Amino acid sequence: MSRHTEIRRVTAPDITARKGGEPIVCLTAYTAPVAQILDPHCDLLLVGDSVGMVVHGLPNTVGVTLEMMIMHGQAVMRGSQHAMVVVDMPFGSYEGDPRDAFANATRVLKETGAQAVKVEAGPQIAATIAYMVDRGIPVMGHVGLRPQAVNVDGKFRAKGRTQDERQKVLAEARAADEAGAFAIVIEGVDESLAPEITAAVRAPTIGIGASAECDGQILVTDDMLGLFDWTPKFVRRYGDIKGAIDKAVSEYAADVRGRRFPAAAETYALKVNVPPQARVARGDKRG
Ligand code: KIV
Repeated sequence: MSRHTEIRRVTAPDITARKGGEPIVCLTAYTAPVAQILDPHCDLLLVGDSVGMVVHGLPNTVGVTLEMMIMHGQAVMRGSQHAMVVVDMPFGSYEGDPRDAFANATRVLKETGAQAVKVEAGPQIAATIAYMVDRGIPVMGHVGLRPQAVNVDGKFRAKGRTQDERQKVLAEARAADEAGAFAIVIEGVDESLAPEITAAVRAPTIGIGASAECDGQILVTDDMLGLFDWTPKFVRRYGDIKGAIDKAVSEYAADVRGRRFPAAAETYALKVNVPPQARVARGDKRG
């Protein structure tokens, strides 16, 4: 690419304009090299707080900090140039005073260069979403199964399977929409609820464990690539990264143990002429 043909990143208005149009392709990303691979294929990369579980081995997302999100957001921005990058606001960073939420989200945007934040949404967060959007921060909502509420729910559990819960999830989505969210993630809901929400809100909906009738889809990249033995029901595996790593590492271990690695092609030789006797003394086997 020449210096003059700069690639323009997808923006929040671009995503909102895709409502009802070509499905929006989204994946999670936490590191620069993976972001670089995903970037040409995706409209939106989410630096999800799932990073706590996927990368840091935490039992859930509650322990994720703003510093972790900023560090991974910086990495994903360095690795991408096309997709819109959205960073999750971690648990405890936005649920209190809207001014604190705005200050924390401002840090995320300033320190990472990402274009938007995501919050787990509902009527209780609507005023905060509006506060941030009105002051220049695009916000994505996240409704249905809200992983940060795991300690209230007791476990990760699909939502909207009773009439009461359907109304609750619908209200969460409507609240995020009316507050100005540019898009809404719907996670882990009854399959018939997602199209109902999609029809009810102005913002495009991004499904995960929801329905093909959403305006876009997202998956945790490491899940769809097959990094773990167990994945949620709604994940389709498009790869076997765990198997590939296992095979590669077992071959490496066998080569190290058998002294087959490194070979001559994988070691350095002196550029200057070294007398043969000095090479023998050094143990250099190359000619
Ligand atoms: O944290 C995350 O990865 C998410 C997606 C599952 C939507 O919120």
